[in-house]
Amino acid sequence: MRLTKEEQLMLDGDKGKGVQQAMEILVKMGELYGANRFLPVKNAHIDAAAYTTIWDAGTEFIEYLVDNGAKVAVPTTINPVSRDIRNWEKLGTTKKFAKKSKRLEDAYLKLGVIPTWTCAPYQCTNVPVFGEVVSWSESNAVNFINSVVGAKAERLPDLVDVCCAVVGRVPEYGLYKDENRAGDVLIRLEYFNDAWFRDSVDYAILGYRIGELVVNKVPVIAGLPDHTTPDDLKALSAAAASGGAVALFHVIGITPEAPNLKTAFHGRNDYDVINITPKVFRETEKRLSSANREEVDLVLVGCPHLSFPELKEIAGLLAGKHTAKDTKFWIHTSRTVYDLAARAGIAQVIEKSGAVILNDTCLMKMDCEGVWKGQHFVTNSGKAAQYAPAIAGVDITMANLKGCVKTALTGKRPKRRLY
Ligand code: F3S
Repeated sequence: MRLTKEEQLMLDGDKGKGVQQAMEILVKMGELYGANRFLPVKNAHIDAAAYTTIWDAGTEFIEYLVDNGAKVAVPTTINPVSRDIRNWEKLGTTKKFAKKSKRLEDAYLKLGVIPTWTCAPYQCTNVPVFGEVVSWSESNAVNFINSVVGAKAERLPDLVDVCCAVVGRVPEYGLYKDENRAGDVLIRLEYFNDAWFRDSVDYAILGYRIGELVVNKVPVIAGLPDHTTPDDLKALSAAAASGGAVALFHVIGITPEAPNLKTAFHGRNDYDVINITPKVFRETEKRLSSANREEVDLVLVGCPHLSFPELKEIAGLLAGKHTAKDTKFWIHTSRTVYDLAARAGIAQVIEKSGAVILNDTCLMKMDCEGVWKGQHFVTNSGKAAQYAPAIAGVDITMANLKGCVKTALTGKRPKRRLY
């Protein structure tokens, strides 16, 4: 890689051993990916925040950087940790585990991160602008800011994301290069009537199927309605990044790099075409719903973390009601959004119903070992439907938001949706 004078000084140890270590890793990584140079970044988002993601070895690496003088070089937000920092005891986290999480949180605070502890920083704490080069990780967030905002990001590996934040640069590879942002595959939605795509679960199921079909190519989606919201695209981003490894998609007429097919495909017309119909959609939903019993142990929403409008909708559905005795309702959001919801009186309505709002974390980042095995979860998240069976050993039923709330109130899974 060609280094600037300043980058060479970092590599030579002029800015301390921590920065030097980060630079050594990034130069190796850049060479591995065929990058010729670094790009400066204006902000960063780190994925590797949960103890259950990087464990003791990762914690020691962050402490090594801190002990050797490193600090983040640009404003840096960060993903959920492995405990709800205010309520971990009530949520069953053990003292031993909370201590491990706290040690990692403290190391990150010393590194200088903005303690957002959220996987959806683009909702209010870190909002890049169109065309901005950033060093982000967390697959849903990278997909969202690439696709919906039009910023430039790649799916950086855990801890490499930390190195980028420390040097304020990223190797120029993959989606940082304009030529790699062209669409590869046209996804055509066919035979969907107006009743579809009224709830973000439809976007989650669509995203999941697209991820399975295109893996890590760039899909161009034609046929989504004009009323598609940022929360819908959040659900699509998360599911496409977990059903496959999609890091950028275009939606014709909606996302900034796709005003029309020609622009989305950079003028090419030799792309593949895949049609998605309601039949494909139902098959995908059925496959994601692995549970075969009615009683539900836990309803999980907020994967990725919920926005203020989503919390408001839930509060409207729960107002004056109480959740079923044997069914937990866990709602994940960031502390920032929670505080706004509390100021608006929304959080109180939700909590009065018996539902629990988790901040700073999510069920999948907490200590799941043996805690949920064999239980039945209902969720509206394609990402949770993919990961919760593997991480927590549970069975899943997918439902829309109204179905999730109804399940929390009755304890029974919702009937299959009719379209
Ligand atoms: Fe966020 Fe946890 Fe889902 S980090 S995207 S709520 S798995």
